[in-house]
Amino acid sequence: MPLFNVYPLYNVTPVAGKGLFVYDENDTEYLDLYGGHAVISIGHSHTKYVTAISDQVAKLGFYSNAVQNSLQKQLADKLEIVSDCKDYELFLCNSGAEANENALKLASFKTNKSRVVAFKNGFHGRTSAAVAATDNKNIIAPINAQQQVTILDLNDINGVKTELEKGDVCAVIVEFIQGVGGLDQATTEFFEQVDVLCKANNTFFIADEVQSGYGRSGKFFAFQHYNVTPDVISIAKGMGNGFPIGGVLIHPSIEAKFGMLGTTFGGNHLACAAGLSVLNVIQDESLIDNVHTISEYFIKIAKTIPEIKNIKGRGLMLGLEFDFEVGDLRKKLIYDYHIFTGGAANKKLLRILPPLTIKKDHINQFFEALVDAIHN
Ligand SMILES: Cc1ncc(COP(=O)(O)O)c(C=O)c1O
Repeated sequence: MPLFNVYPLYNVTPVAGKGLFVYDENDTEYLDLYGGHAVISIGHSHTKYVTAISDQVAKLGFYSNAVQNSLQKQLADKLEIVSDCKDYELFLCNSGAEANENALKLASFKTNKSRVVAFKNGFHGRTSAAVAATDNKNIIAPINAQQQVTILDLNDINGVKTELEKGDVCAVIVEFIQGVGGLDQATTEFFEQVDVLCKANNTFFIADEVQSGYGRSGKFFAFQHYNVTPDVISIAKGMGNGFPIGGVLIHPSIEAKFGMLGTTFGGNHLACAAGLSVLNVIQDESLIDNVHTISEYFIKIAKTIPEIKNIKGRGLMLGLEFDFEVGDLRKKLIYDYHIFTGGAANKKLLRILPPLTIKKDHINQFFEALVDAIHN
């Protein structure tokens, strides 16, 4: 049976990974500055991660949400400590889209309203409400287009005020650092005023931290760079270091009811073991401190390269903007220099989303290759 052909693929077949590197079937080593799209947080095949998952699968990989699962509580408690998000409650699911779908659903349940405000170039996933709140007409099918969504420009605070005061908006959903869109960030005033407007208008403020969360921005969550209190925080990518897991942190003002949310696979034993080991490693190896060190080092070198016109993003969610489209440069980096980088909706942006365990040597390797690739 052929595979449904929806992904344009690079001609590389990774079969193994260790730390910052992946290896193809000929054992060729590739430096991974893409992290499988911001997913690999603690590095490939981290020993503690492998042990945690292997031990758990040997004991019990899955049982349903109809019975007690102490691993879910352990994960929630650890997340509270490592994220410093006190008092939130955790619902576990399987992916970023599902996290946002649940976040939007909670907003609608709780406010009894249904319109969503989202932002230009935002990406929130491909399920029903999440894709409707995504600013990309090509991936919105007619069945999704029935959702009521208003897309505004980032920083359009008057627009947000006008829409919220109409009284029918259940949620404002935002990425504090846009991922797929190209690493744009709104101003501090904008984020903080949106927070105030949401609270004044019985509208949920949803922080989509699917990509920016888990330390990638230099704080555990990107919204923690601002003085805001989201009602719901959605998480996924870095959470399982590749094991499919997502979740929503839910403010205690939102009361749970049996049956309000649910999933077969979400919060299963294996996913929780993976998620717990990721949080342990982030904490034990002070990875958020490493994000600061390496981010500073990266930006310092990037500033010395004249072809780089703009450096975007924050922490290890970075972008290098050129005055040319970077598609060919990315190919050259993969095929000639064996380095994975990311692209964005902004075609002139090269995205850097490495494991948070990255060291200065890896940055040196990248910049040497980049300068060589630009000039040859
Ligand atoms: C900010 C953001 N939200 C949601 C998603 C969707 O996550 P998933 O692909 O796990 O459904 C993504 C994926 O790239 C994302 O970057």
